Order: sequence, then structure tokens, then C-alpha cells
Amino acid sequence: MREGQNHGWHFDESEVTITLMLQCPGDGGQFEFVHGTSDADRENYDAITEILDGTSPAIQSLEVHPGTLILFAGYYSIHRVTPVVGKKTRYLATLCFKDEPGVSNSSEVQQLFYGRTAAT
Ligand SMILES: [Fe+2]
Repeated sequence: MREGQNHGWHFDESEVTITLMLQCPGDGGQFEFVHGTSDADRENYDAITEILDGTSPAIQSLEVHPGTLILFAGYYSIHRVTPVVGKKTRYLATLCFKDEPGVSNSSEVQQLFYGRTAAT
């Protein structure tokens, strides 16, 4: 993730995601989340609006360093990565797990998050 790039608020398609921070940017690139957002919360538009506006008191962030491993249920917890600031690229390895084999992100999500789609 280079300067100015970010991941907007979203839920993952996978139930469980493991990330390993390889290189932090100079600034920004902060991982923020709202713990345990339930299916009912997805339709709680007032709460979601507060999150999208960045004014929700439920928003948390993690201090992440190179080597930090995060095990995260992104399907249930809305989250984002704030824009990277500076020329130092943010490198993060991501492993996603689904409840059945052979499932991958949709081509739209692949393009959005990785800038390309996997050959099928
Ligand atoms: Fe995600």
C-alpha cells in the first residue's frame, strides 16, 4: 500500500483473516475496526453512518509494528486501513479463511484490494 492508498470501511468475505505486518509506512496506514459488529448492526444505519463518518466512539485502532500478527474475524467486524502517509510502502501479508475449501474473493474484491485478479 503506497502513499495515499487505503482500504475503506468494509466487512471481509472470509470469516477469519490473519495478517502479518512486514513493513509499516512512515505514518498513516492505521488499522481501525469496530469489534463484533453483528448482522443486525449491518442494518443499523445510524451506527454505520457514525462509523463511516469516523465519529463513532466504538472505533478502535491497533498499534502495529513489523512482526505483529493479527487474527481477525473481519466478516463480523467492520474495519478499514487509513491512508498511508509518506513514501515508505506498507507491506502486509494476508491469509483469508473460509468455512469451505476452494473459495476465493470475488474478482471485484481481488481487483479492489490487490489491483489484479487471480487466474482461474
Ligand atoms: Fe478486510
